[in-house]
Amino acid sequence: MMSNKKSKTNLKTAGSSKNSIKKKINIIIDGKSIQVEEGSTILNAASTAGIYIPTLCFHEKIKPHGACRLCIVEIEKNGRTKIVASCAYPAEEGLVVNTESPKVEEIRKNLVELYMALFPYNAVIKRLVKKYGLKETRYRKENNYCILCGLCVRYCAEVKGNNAIGFVGRGINKKVTFIPDSAYFKYCEDCMECMDICPTGVFPSNFGIERIPQVSSS
Ligand code: FES
Repeated sequence: MMSNKKSKTNLKTAGSSKNSIKKKINIIIDGKSIQVEEGSTILNAASTAGIYIPTLCFHEKIKPHGACRLCIVEIEKNGRTKIVASCAYPAEEGLVVNTESPKVEEIRKNLVELYMALFPYNAVIKRLVKKYGLKETRYRKENNYCILCGLCVRYCAEVKGNNAIGFVGRGINKKVTFIPDSAYFKYCEDCMECMDICPTGVFPSNFGIERIPQVSSS
């Protein structure tokens, strides 16, 4: 028989864990019912259920920014449909999500065609080019093009706490660089983690660094 002391301890533990339990949300993705914790994004929910949504500017350690739009999905809410970035949109009770609706596929295919002109060596883009059977792109080819997704900037600030990289300039002159130039020598030489997460490979190549891990020969 359980001693009084032990049963009290167990009750206390059960009570405290109850407080930390998050509310569950039920959503439907591609016809599959999924239960996730409140606060999850659609992308989180899909990944929990093993449903793949392509991403470029998402990183699990930093807040989503919704810049590349590759992760778009179509949601149905109150009888209306809408295209949203799944990496940033919260899972809501009763939400119906379609990751490959005709509208999503049309927009994503167009985006892939654009990115094919800008950074054709990215592994995700290469896979999607193959999926959509794209042979050529209608967009002007500019192989060394930064899409200003800000992944490196946010990673440096949020994960490394250094703020060594930032945006400078405006409009077509806007670019990512070390701020100030000396920041590179102060923080970066021993880190260089931003170089590994750049989806376009432009940031490392701008600094003559041959380190483009997303380039895939497959
Ligand atoms: Fe969601 Fe880029 S991964 S917008």
